Amino acid sequence: MNDIYKILVRPLFFRMNAEKAHEVASSLLSCIEKFPVLRKAIETFINTPTQTTNVFGINFPNKIGLAAGFDKDGHFPGICSSFGFGHMEIGTVTPKPQPGNPKPRLFRLVKQESIINRMGFNNQGAESMCRRVQRSYPKGNRIAPLGINIGKAKTTPIKETLNDYLSCIETLDEVADYFTINISSPNTPGLRDLHKREFLDPLLKGIDVKVSELSRENNKEKTPCLLKVSPDETFNSLEEILDIAIKNNVRGIVATNTTTSRPKNIIMNESGGLSGKIIEEKSLKIIKFLHKQSNGNLPIIGVGGIKDVDSAKRKLDAGASLVQIYSGFVYEGPLLVKKIVKGLKKREQWMT
Ligand SMILES: Cc1cc2nc3c(=O)[nH]c(=O)nc-3n(C[C@H](O)[C@H](O)[C@H](O)COP(=O)(O)O)c2cc1C
Repeated sequence: MNDIYKILVRPLFFRMNAEKAHEVASSLLSCIEKFPVLRKAIETFINTPTQTTNVFGINFPNKIGLAAGFDKDGHFPGICSSFGFGHMEIGTVTPKPQPGNPKPRLFRLVKQESIINRMGFNNQGAESMCRRVQRSYPKGNRIAPLGINIGKAKTTPIKETLNDYLSCIETLDEVADYFTINISSPNTPGLRDLHKREFLDPLLKGIDVKVSELSRENNKEKTPCLLKVSPDETFNSLEEILDIAIKNNVRGIVATNTTTSRPKNIIMNESGGLSGKIIEEKSLKIIKFLHKQSNGNLPIIGVGGIKDVDSAKRKLDAGASLVQIYSGFVYEGPLLVKKIVKGLKKREQWMT
């Protein structure tokens, strides 16, 4: 079945330019999303094994999640859970709709099984996402938890950034199982400056106050907030970020986003964030460092270059509690999730 994707489906998609292919795939998935019977049929057909794990107080049916950016507006989390994903992170969403950067802004590096993107948080805004998720993937009727990745608008000055994150949290708290505070996408001017103490400390403090307030008002647990970091930070900077995150009750780190650096074998001269197989080592180093530095006390979601059982296992061995995939899903197809979950389960059984 995986071969059918590689032999028949992928060549069709790869004949289109990368963004067009993503639009076509998203339309198909959004269409299936509207038919719960089809979703159920796909779930039964794929039949991904369960390997339940509890991380930051949430039960996940397995350790493999969909990374942010694939479903920016929450059009198809249900069908992704039918494909076997143990969680889906939708977004990045901003308070109001914004168009993102001019096209072309998405490029495949097929030989290196990698992608360059400079999408720039194109999205339909938090209110529209909230209504959509309430309709198609409501709380209480989920196979897999739903994370919401939130960011700042392109035009918001860095000093007013907190308001954007608070606005997203206020609008989406009722539908989110967890939030990821995205400070690491390279395509929004100034966003990565939020890694600096002078901005990060007040930002995370403000967010913690808001989720505490919402928890009291609605008589429920605080929605866990995670922080998504860049692979381009130094270890010194990451040490400081960990400190600030722990102090402000951040419940986990998503490591990592895309890189702006370019290994020697990348000849494509496009700006933006690089993802896929080529960033595996870079994100692995960061995960190992964060795990060691936090004494394993802060859960890590490992992202970057996962494309098979081995690469997922390397992330888990480096200290990640969960992992996420974006580029690998594009190159390997929807059966990749089951393949990894099955493979990991088998290896765990051998160990015991
Ligand atoms: C086209 C594209 C769009 C992305 N958009 C977002 C985004 O909106 N927010 C975010 O936090 N990460 C975004 N990412 C980064 C991914 O979530 C992930 O961190 C990164 O691609 C590394 O994982 P991978 O090697 O499995 O692709 C995007 C990645 C790609 C390829």
